[in-house]
Amino acid sequence: MKEQSRGAVPWRLWIPERMLSLGTMRNPWAREYALTPGRYIWGKAPSGFARELSALVPRGGRVLDLGCGEGRDSVYFASRGLAVTGVDASAAGLDKADRLAAEQRVSVRWICRSMLDLPVIGKFDLVYSCGSIHHVPKKDRCRLFRRLRTLTRPGGVHAHIVFTDVTVYAEKGEEIDYFVPGELGKFYSDWLALRYEEGAIPCSQDGSSHSHSIERIVTKRARPGATSTDFPPRILA
Ligand SMILES: C[S@@+](CC[C@H](N)C(=O)[O-])C[C@H]1O[C@@H](n2cnc3c(N)ncnc32)[C@H](O)[C@@H]1O
Repeated sequence: MKEQSRGAVPWRLWIPERMLSLGTMRNPWAREYALTPGRYIWGKAPSGFARELSALVPRGGRVLDLGCGEGRDSVYFASRGLAVTGVDASAAGLDKADRLAAEQRVSVRWICRSMLDLPVIGKFDLVYSCGSIHHVPKKDRCRLFRRLRTLTRPGGVHAHIVFTDVTVYAEKGEEIDYFVPGELGKFYSDWLALRYEEGAIPCSQDGSSHSHSIERIVTKRARPGATSTDFPPRILA
């Protein structure tokens, strides 16, 4: 519900814009959300990626959705009985996300902040991002992934889709340090890769049909004492 989803502290007031990490300045989507208050530019239906992943999280498990935008995937995870924290640098995006959660009668904790400055505690079962981590400058990524790893339960899963430099199409003036193929996997070289694949996603966000090359990883933090036979074989691209 709306009141519950925002918690006791109005998220809009938590952090002044000037204190957000500079990485957020490279993000055109805040402006796009503000220009389209009556329309969900990414739609209200969850991504196929989110649908595939919800089965990997135990009922009641905690999900951290990084760069959740207008909330389609956070709201979906919440509708599956998961405890979801959605983080985005855009207050206009989170306004829409909050409306979507209210519409679907689910509760999500929204945080308006850069994912580089996450004000969260405790461990998550799923740390998830769909199309957002490439907005973080390359120089900040080691720090980001290091922090994300500390926020993960043993046996927890990370799942990300990032844009790579194989097929580049810059939309809405966005400035991206595209991932190079294999870069994402290097942050998880000591985890179990359940899936690691390259591909392309079609897009027509700016009115012209194009595609973005991507890498997608689903990877798991081993439990202490686990041996390789406890897991399915690694699938590496
Ligand atoms: C392409 S949109 C994807 C939105 C959402 N994940 C989805 O699939 O519908 C990228 C999102 O990342 C957010 N973003 C970009 N840089 C960010 C940062 N440093 N911290 C938090 N969110 C960020 C943008 O505001 C935007 O909502």
